[in-house]
Amino acid sequence: MSFEEIEAIGICDWNKLEPKRFTYKPQYLRPYDVDVKIIACGICGSDIHCIKGHYGKPFLPLAVGHEIVGYIVGMGAEVDKKKFAIGDRVGVGPECDSCGKCWRCEHGIENNCEQMVTTFHGTYPSGVHSQGGYANYVRVNNKFAFRIPDDLDTISAAPLMCGGITGYRPLLTAGVKKGTKVGVSGIGGIGHMTILFAKALGAEVTAISRNDKKREIAKKLGADHYVSMEDAKFPSEFKNSLDVIVNTASSFSEGRVKSVMSMMRPYGKFIFVTAPGAGQKLELDPGFMILGSYSVSGSAAGSPEEIDGMLQLAAAKQIKPWVETLDINEKNVTQAWKRMEEGDVRFRFVLTGYDKCFGN
Ligand SMILES: NC(=O)c1ccc[n+]([C@@H]2O[C@H](COP(=O)([O-])OP(=O)(O)OC[C@H]3O[C@@H](n4cnc5c(N)ncnc54)[C@H](OP(=O)(O)O)[C@@H]3O)[C@@H](O)[C@H]2O)c1
Ligand SMILES: [Zn+2]
Ligand SMILES: [Zn+2]
Repeated sequence: MSFEEIEAIGICDWNKLEPKRFTYKPQYLRPYDVDVKIIACGICGSDIHCIKGHYGKPFLPLAVGHEIVGYIVGMGAEVDKKKFAIGDRVGVGPECDSCGKCWRCEHGIENNCEQMVTTFHGTYPSGVHSQGGYANYVRVNNKFAFRIPDDLDTISAAPLMCGGITGYRPLLTAGVKKGTKVGVSGIGGIGHMTILFAKALGAEVTAISRNDKKREIAKKLGADHYVSMEDAKFPSEFKNSLDVIVNTASSFSEGRVKSVMSMMRPYGKFIFVTAPGAGQKLELDPGFMILGSYSVSGSAAGSPEEIDGMLQLAAAKQIKPWVETLDINEKNVTQAWKRMEEGDVRFRFVLTGYDKCFGN
């Protein structure tokens, strides 16, 4: 099967966060592309940054969404038939294409390719724009489609395609294992999945949040400790308590990064996934960094191999994000974005009901 037009829901005006239906012509089917009929898509914090113009305003209309699960309904002639068949259930995350030629791609870290095409808001070398998963179909390079293990249900798998891998990868690269003292700062979509993965790896987990509101729910997620940044004892009484901090807060603007970092023991690793608006800076105090012998790094989603590994681990340990499902339509997407901005979701929205919206 191949198609000329895809139906989507997205923004048509940067000043109005009211998504509307539109159709678009996808990038032509390359020999190594697959066509995916979408059945679910999570709403990531990056969707909100993007529609608000934080990543620039390159084109309209624009459909976001990069926590996609669907079925393969078409593929190019060169797709390995041992890897994929029509009808396979696959996930697609924040990346849909990379150059395939640079040092990074040749070393299997396509998530760091400087010419990558993001699943939405990107532009292919042909000049065609990429559109995301608030749509009936998506066409992607098969390298960025991942088979969902049979033991993982679709609704749980969707948020893992971005939030799951983004939260898991820092734990993997920091060598988190049984007993590692891990702090997770920012308990939203990615933060809550980071807690679930850290617990599955046997870590002792501290949830760090801007206020006290999530104390009980963090415990239910499995966090061993909770630190509110409003606590009068923060950060002084919590110093030297953590080996690794994964910073998933959506902004550095509140200037609390140094206080959170001071919770680390010397040689601690602070890994941020925060992708704030263009121009926002992460400020580091050299003396503080030297005295703590701290490491600071950023982390982008995950490589294809890491994504496969994350999905296997999630299936084996039955790691299930906490989600609220919503039928995809203009009204529900508007509401979901509004509630995301207000932090009113525990912890991820997943759009479903695609056939009701777009037909079969
Ligand atoms: N690196 C990557 O590959 C990658 C991939 C996907 C997303 N991201 C980025 O990761 C970040 C988190 O995404 P998400 O989906 O988890 O978002 P989310 O569900 O909205 O959660 C973000 C959390 O950040 C905290 N927060 C909210 N507003 C804040 C502010 N003004 N200042 C400081 N903290 C604030 C809140 O936690 P508390 O209330 O607990 O403090 C909130 O729950 C976003 O910046 C997103 O763009 C990065
Ligand atoms: Zn995302
Ligand atoms: Zn590359």
